[in-house]
Formats: sequence, C-alpha cells, structure tokens
Amino acid sequence: MTLPLCVENLTKRFRQGQVVIEALRQVRLQVQQGEFVAVMGPSGSGKSTLLHLLAGLTRPDEGRILVEGQDLARLSDYQRTVFRRRRIGLVFQAFNLVPTLTAEENILLPALADGRSRRELADRLEMLLRAMQLQERRRHRPDALSGGEQQRVAIARALIGEPAILLADEPTGNLDTMTGQHLCLLLHQLSKQQGRTVLLVTHEPTVAVWADRIVVLKDGQIVHEFAPSESRDPQRLAVRYQEIVGVPAPAAV
Ligand SMILES: Nc1ncnc2c1ncn2[C@@H]1O[C@H](COP(=O)(O)OP(=O)(O)OP(=O)(O)O)[C@@H](O)[C@H]1O
Ligand SMILES: [Mg+2]
Repeated sequence: MTLPLCVENLTKRFRQGQVVIEALRQVRLQVQQGEFVAVMGPSGSGKSTLLHLLAGLTRPDEGRILVEGQDLARLSDYQRTVFRRRRIGLVFQAFNLVPTLTAEENILLPALADGRSRRELADRLEMLLRAMQLQERRRHRPDALSGGEQQRVAIARALIGEPAILLADEPTGNLDTMTGQHLCLLLHQLSKQQGRTVLLVTHEPTVAVWADRIVVLKDGQIVHEFAPSESRDPQRLAVRYQEIVGVPAPAAV
C-alpha cells in the first residue's frame, strides 16, 4: 500500500550571507496510514522545516519526499498547490490567518478555493465551529480573537477539507490544558476511527502521549523514535525525552 508520507535522505540548508545552516540532515521517515506521529525536539532542531518540506512549501536540497506516493518535486507549483489543498491539512506555528476575513471565512477559505460550495460545507463548518468552541466567535476577525481562538480557527481551517494527512506545528501551543487535551482526543479519533494520518510537532509530553510514535529531532537529525507507554503517562514520556536529548535538569537557584 502507498505510504501517506515517505521521506528519503532529506537535507535542507539555509544560507544567510556566508553562513550555511543545515536545518535537516539525511532525515528518513515513513508514516503509515492512520498513524499518529509526534515530532519532538529542542528549539531550532528542524521540526518546522520538516513540516514545511512535507507540505511542499519549500524544496529539499537533497533527498525525496513522497506524499501518497507522489514525488512533490515532480509536480509543478500549481499541481503542488492543488494536491496540498485536496490531501493535506496544515496548521502553522504562526497561524497564517487572513486578517481581513472573519473566523468562519478563514475556515472555509481552502475548501472554497478548491471549488466546494458553501452549501455543501455548511454542516461540516458547524461541526468544526462546535468542536473548536468557536460558535460565538465566528464573525470575528483574527485581531479580535485571542491567541487560543486564532489557533482553533487555524485547526478548523486545516480540517474543513477532510484531509487524508494533517500536518500541525505546535497546534496546542496557545491552548489551555483542557482545550489542548480535547484537541488531542479529536486528532486521535481522526487517526483511529477515520484512518487519517496525523503528524504533529509538539514540546508538550501531555500532547505527545496521544501519538502512536514519537520521533525525536536533534540538530537536524532523527536521533530516536519510540512509542509512549500504554498508560500514556506524560511524566514517563518527559523523562524518556530528556534522556534522549540530554537536557540537563534545571540547576538549583
Ligand atoms: N528561512 C530560514 N532562513 C534561515 N534559517 C532558517 C530558516 N528557517 C529556519 N532556519 C533555521 O533552521 C534551523 C531549524 O529551524 P526550525 O524552524 O525548523 O526549528 P524548530 O525545530 O521548528 O524550532 P522551534 O521549536 O523553535 O519552532 C534553525 O537554526 C533556524 O534558525
Ligand atoms: Mg518550529
């Protein structure tokens, strides 16, 4: 069966003047259909870079990215945009909402751009507004929304088109614990009940415990992969993660 995500020897460099930063080095990753993968790693380890490459928003310097068997580099810009809109839901670290549009217009935008009608999207929009607890905020523009509300709009926008693959960068970063856990449950259901593939970046052990597999990035390389314990104990996961990345315990002050 075709893998939703397959990454081979992926290298990405950024040049700034004389300095070259290797943001990803020879990364290999395969994600199965319906799998829920959490990517963890210190700040600057290459998590967002990986997500942007998987979404076809940037190009690799070396290696290949196959999304549902499709080599992104072989598509034209237009084909890549259409493919992304149809198959991938994206939640960015900066939410990238359109400032002049209301919450519900932002949510509908990618699906309307894909030629779907408001009428056929109406039920799904209501469901997502409810799930994200945004019913009272639907006509607000982003600047009138809190950080957590903007984040929930971005998540609803990513889910409106019922994507086969969801790529989310710190989707719970601005949410309180309850709302964050609610979202994790939703993502878990998407993967387990609907067979959708979820790859999310997170710093939070309470989020990562929901994943089937945790991939740890450090200095642009995958240094470890493991499954959370069956008890989904965030404390245990945090300890394991810290052992892997070698973060020293905070010094006493
Ligand atoms: N457009 C860019 N130009 C130059 N350097 C970049 C660019 N984007 C990312 N980098 C660099 O690549 C490295 C990886 O960045 P990336 O944003 O992927 O990290 P991250 O793991 O997502 O970090 P965080 O947890 O802080 O979001 C960093 O050193 C960063 O400074
Ligand atoms: Mg990032």
